[in-house]
Amino acid sequence: MLQTPYYLVDKAKLLKNMEKIAYVRKHSGAKSLLALKCFATWSVFDLMQDYMDGTTSSSLYEVKLGKEKFAGETHAYSVAYADNEIAEVLANSDKIIFNSIGQLQRFAEVSEGKPRGLRVNPQVSTSAFIIADPARPYSRLGEWDPVKIEAVIEQISGFMFHNNCENRDFNRFDEMLNLIEERFGHLIARMQWISLGGGIHFTGEDYPLDAFCQRLKAFADKYQVQVYLEPGEAAITQSTSLEVTVLDTLFNGKNLAIVDSSIEAHMLDLLIYRESAKMAPCDGPHTYMVCGKSCLAGDIFGEFNFAQPLQPGDRLSFQDAAGYTMVKKNWFNGVKMPSIAVKQLDGSIELVREFDYTDFVNNLS
Ligand SMILES: Cc1ncc(COP(=O)(O)O)c(C=O)c1O
Repeated sequence: MLQTPYYLVDKAKLLKNMEKIAYVRKHSGAKSLLALKCFATWSVFDLMQDYMDGTTSSSLYEVKLGKEKFAGETHAYSVAYADNEIAEVLANSDKIIFNSIGQLQRFAEVSEGKPRGLRVNPQVSTSAFIIADPARPYSRLGEWDPVKIEAVIEQISGFMFHNNCENRDFNRFDEMLNLIEERFGHLIARMQWISLGGGIHFTGEDYPLDAFCQRLKAFADKYQVQVYLEPGEAAITQSTSLEVTVLDTLFNGKNLAIVDSSIEAHMLDLLIYRESAKMAPCDGPHTYMVCGKSCLAGDIFGEFNFAQPLQPGDRLSFQDAAGYTMVKKNWFNGVKMPSIAVKQLDGSIELVREFDYTDFVNNLS
């Protein structure tokens, strides 16, 4: 048995998402690029690149990773490029998307000849969290004024809209695309490609995939554009777990169990959004608050029920631990960094990365 903590990426589960993504390409013509900001565990890119069309990025390092490790197209996007990185970004990408007209103008000369796009902010979104809402008041994420965009239209061949966030509702997606068309349709018609961003949970159970494909195809046909999607979470949802071991139990008004991991260090997004982790199916009369081993008082994964009282040495498995977790892990408290293991399609489990004290030391100086 592998030493905990470790993330376990299950390729068979990943494959289910990949097959839906390939179905969407076949039936709608839309290409899907993996959003590396969500998931950049390159050990499983060999599987993913057979079903997806490439990657999209949020920085120089992500664009380089995409180019180096994932077949297909490499899109570069960043909220703002620095002068000293733009040459390398251009050298490692097939298309570059600027976040603002200011950046497009600043790098107009150096990016001449490269397919260029602009991020457009349609000022509508589906986010329930202000921190994750690209359409929040005073948002810096993209240009919103059709008049200003029209003035630079000759310099670009595509737009990127990213306004869906964890959107499971096809009707809401459709409604927002209608709004985008009303406001920007006359400009979209002058483009060659349109990225509709990420945040669309089309690989989820019961998502109306055929209606989604028809809508994407109708959009592409109407404006004669190549549509791109940038799935992050939708590509890797339900594929990965974080495996931990109970180190201690206490009673302090509630049963508490401390595990060899930390929500702050290893599943940070749950802490930011104040959500509970998901435990592998378990039930029973014994309720425990499962806590991390960092010194943060609120380092709590959640409350779960178990058939038996928990004991040191028991193994627990947190589900759905791929998206925005491994990319955000950190060395807070010097807690041992989870290894990365991959469950191959034949069922064998391969340890692909271990971290040790040297990695901790090298992280700072
Ligand atoms: C521009 C862009 N594309 C794609 C994504 C991926 O979104 P998700 O992981 O929700 O699919 C994001 C997420 O923030 C994004 O900002």
